[in-house]
Amino acid sequence: MSILTVDLPQRSYDINIGPGLLGQTGKVAAKFAGGRQIILVSNPTVYGLYGEQCRESLVNSGFEVILSLMPDGEEYKIIAEVLKIVDEAVKGRIERTDLLIALGGGVVGDAAGFAAAIYQRGIDFIQIPTTLLAQVDSSVGGKVGVNHFQGKNLLGAFHQPRSVIIDTDVLKTLERRDYLSGLAEVIKYGLIYDDEFFAFLEARVFAIIDQDEETLQKIIYRSCQIKSEIVAADEREAGLRAVLNLGHTFGHAVEKLGDYKTYRHGEAVAIGINAAVHLAADSGLMTAGEVDRVRDLMGRLSLPTRFPDFDPEDIIAIMHQDKKSKNGKIYLVLPRGIGDYVITDNITEEQVAKAIKEAQK
Ligand SMILES: NC(=O)c1ccc[n+]([C@@H]2O[C@H](COP(=O)([O-])OP(=O)(O)OC[C@H]3O[C@@H](n4cnc5c(N)ncnc54)[C@H](O)[C@@H]3O)[C@@H](O)[C@H]2O)c1
Ligand SMILES: [Zn+2]
Repeated sequence: MSILTVDLPQRSYDINIGPGLLGQTGKVAAKFAGGRQIILVSNPTVYGLYGEQCRESLVNSGFEVILSLMPDGEEYKIIAEVLKIVDEAVKGRIERTDLLIALGGGVVGDAAGFAAAIYQRGIDFIQIPTTLLAQVDSSVGGKVGVNHFQGKNLLGAFHQPRSVIIDTDVLKTLERRDYLSGLAEVIKYGLIYDDEFFAFLEARVFAIIDQDEETLQKIIYRSCQIKSEIVAADEREAGLRAVLNLGHTFGHAVEKLGDYKTYRHGEAVAIGINAAVHLAADSGLMTAGEVDRVRDLMGRLSLPTRFPDFDPEDIIAIMHQDKKSKNGKIYLVLPRGIGDYVITDNITEEQVAKAIKEAQK
């Protein structure tokens, strides 16, 4: 097992990474719980696979578990589902010193984390991410929230977990599409932050596809480490943290135009990264060879890269609604070569449309 620390003033916490850690849930919870009760939030898919193991570990540590299941799917990452979690908490008399545990992918983690942030002005919670995407990205850093019909993640809070438990064994049951989708965020870290890590991914494509244990540990560890460093430097996204949005302004538009059903988050991010690298090349930030490396890596990992045939004007209109739009300008993160980035609002709509059209080829 390896442990990483997210270093934040008064809110530092550990990320525990390793196989078989679900069985440790009770022990970890016991470190933080002030009360005897736990509200465990999951969905029927994940609970059916791992719920009993998690509950048993909590019961063995003397906790009483109240269960709250939300339906499976990004379309349920909405405020109504958060309020249902809150209802269960009220009904179960969850107190301020009790804990919430989120067991699931990014959807459960974001929605349940938001419930923890608002219930009685905030209770402690633990993230147990069960998808690759949630393990390398959404469970770390304290961004919690839900979608609004007008846009992605428009409601939310910063609420750091007390601990993150990453059991790498649970990835074995992930659908291939969900596993691959998580790799988009992994590529993102290499592309904006670490050229050696990017080269490692290129060299280990087959091991990654086969979910080779050692390779998985390494990519999860390095991804969490990069995310932790960025979050520790800029918890509330005053600057640096925005680099984590690479590909996301495009990606959120793709998700929205697909009604949050057609594309997985990571798939939309891969498509967004493809548009971003074209834009970077057009702005003189990347060479054609570097663009090819990024597209090749995503292609070899079976990630979609072709931008769907939505009208570029519709996409740009949605990009303006994105939270990352400031004073009417689209605020974008672009790669600078491989392993570095720029944050810019100096890009014209014409350039954005051109990059989308390139990515639609
Ligand atoms: N908060 C953040 O900082 C942050 C960062 C990145 C992404 N996100 C959010 O994360 C969400 C996407 O998360 P996701 O990709 O994990 O999707 P998801 O939570 O919908 O999970 C994908 C599917 O896998 C199933 N599943 C989960 N774990 C499983 C397992 N171990 N075995 C079998 N099936 C399993 C789920 O039930 C679901 O059907 C998006 O809403 C995105 O906005 C948030
Ligand atoms: Zn993301």
